[in-house]
Amino acid sequence: MCGIVGYIGKRDVAPLLLEGLQRLEYRGYDSAGIVIAGRSGGLKAVKAKGRVRELEARVPKRFAGTTGIAHTRWATHGAPSDENAHPHLDTEGKVAVVHNGIVDNASELRAKLEADGVVFASETDSEVITHLIARSQAVSLEEKVREALKVVEGTYGIAVMHADFPDRIVAARNGSPVVLGIGEKEMFVASDVAALISHTRQVVTLDDGEMATLKADDFRTYTTSGTRTTATPETVEWEAASYDMGGHDTYMHKEICEQPEAVDRVLRGRIDDKFSTVHLGGLNLDAREARGIRRVKILGCGTSYHAGMIGASLIEGLARIPADSEPASEFRYRNPVVDPDTLYIAVSQSGETYDVLAAVQELKRKGARVLGVVNVVGSAIARETDGGVYVHAGPEVCVVSTKCFTNTVVAFALLALHLGRIRDLSVADGKRIIEGLRALPEQIQEILTQEEDIRKLAADYAEAKSMMFIGRVRGYPVALEASLKLKEISYIHAEAYPASELKHGPLALIEPAMPTVAIVPDDSLLEKNRAAMEEIKARSGRILAVAHRDQEKADHTILVPKNEDELDPILMGIPLQLLAYHTALALGRDIDKPRNLAKSVTVE
Ligand code: F6R
Repeated sequence: MCGIVGYIGKRDVAPLLLEGLQRLEYRGYDSAGIVIAGRSGGLKAVKAKGRVRELEARVPKRFAGTTGIAHTRWATHGAPSDENAHPHLDTEGKVAVVHNGIVDNASELRAKLEADGVVFASETDSEVITHLIARSQAVSLEEKVREALKVVEGTYGIAVMHADFPDRIVAARNGSPVVLGIGEKEMFVASDVAALISHTRQVVTLDDGEMATLKADDFRTYTTSGTRTTATPETVEWEAASYDMGGHDTYMHKEICEQPEAVDRVLRGRIDDKFSTVHLGGLNLDAREARGIRRVKILGCGTSYHAGMIGASLIEGLARIPADSEPASEFRYRNPVVDPDTLYIAVSQSGETYDVLAAVQELKRKGARVLGVVNVVGSAIARETDGGVYVHAGPEVCVVSTKCFTNTVVAFALLALHLGRIRDLSVADGKRIIEGLRALPEQIQEILTQEEDIRKLAADYAEAKSMMFIGRVRGYPVALEASLKLKEISYIHAEAYPASELKHGPLALIEPAMPTVAIVPDDSLLEKNRAAMEEIKARSGRILAVAHRDQEKADHTILVPKNEDELDPILMGIPLQLLAYHTALALGRDIDKPRNLAKSVTVE
């Protein structure tokens, strides 16, 4: 998705902004642009379709200035092109705007502006904001921006420069993240802390409906209606080094390998051995309230939805509360019945996914209690929910999620244990789960040592045009997530089914050219899973099993260490991340930036 970075201070701005744009590359984009306030007055802009390095190649040698804004664009209105790249300047070249989000009434506003003689230079929805600001008769830049935003419907995170106000950048937020970075006599603005964290860790996150004026040695925030707001900078805990590749060839590989430490982090300081439970500081749910919950509904998208499915089975299993997970995007459009005794949980790695945020807002409007299971501290969903559990995976840069998925499931295990111990889960079972949780980091490490064997298997399976993933009950979400991972980065078509559903249709697909990955834990369904493998073998299908012991029916078995039945799905997913990774590598794919995908989907 689109990214914004801006700077005002004393340093040469172009290299700073280009570095910031590189840090935002992981979000996915198709073009980039930069504008600076030139030393001799006026704005100077450069834009390029393609990667940031193409923009960099176009930036002239004499491009000096100390104030500027820059953008990576993900096309929504108008194809990827130089013209459609941001920043958008008005006809006189005095106003420059970078915009994330979507202007819903862009065509109406554009028609009005064109009728007034404005000539547009791009096909984007964003350009209307530039012209509205340029045409405003207000005296101050803040007033001009405010006036323009009054008629804009939709979502935005914007940063604005004006040649007549070279001492400032004005930013505003409505539904699209904007953070300010507070430095020593220098200020930053960005859509994501990744763009500024190597310069300052002091940040202010704007709320929806909030604006900011940044000057080199000062900033202030206020509402879109002009009322001052108080903004105290917070310290970002993530290290700038977390955004580096750390010796790995890809972020995905780094993030898969980081999982033992990531899981350790989500557990740290939360386990209470005395009562065989966990402490979850930010839950804002007392024991009486927890006992009153009659249902749990989990909402997320993509990988987070899958993590929510495992979360639902953990909550149902340990706390004995009926629970299910649903794609947030579907939920919010079916006019759901909102029940006061249901606990709603929004799951999101980024905390910015529009469909999840919109579902949370709809639920809040209807009076529901909504918790968040979120990775990014202070993100929109974290702020909008009544409380929740942070996932503490650290920044995830690769577009596809691996460590965040694992940590999200572990966070759900903590929540399930907490709810269970308030309700009917025995001390002995609490202890059993805690021991299982504690064993996870080492067991994940053990799986990671099998990487070379998995790489060899992947080279073999990379020839497949299509693959089937099957699992039962707890294994089914593992199959779903593994098939999504394979699709996303290798572009091999993959299907995931409950193993029990095979004979109701998908068995027709089985033939030697369509291998099956079977999730076969050593639990009460082992024999059922073996029967499903038997059915596949009878149709000459090849099988790769992920199991706790060698599976005779399978052509290959990846062995994973046994944990408690409830926690086994966490471990079974890990080798399949490596399988997807090495399959994609064997096929020469761009692993960290798969085609057509973006890291955080902040539009509908
Ligand atoms: C897939 C993946 C996506 C995200 C989904 C929701 O690897 O990462 O499916 O899980 O776009 O994003 P978040 O979790 O940020 O809400």
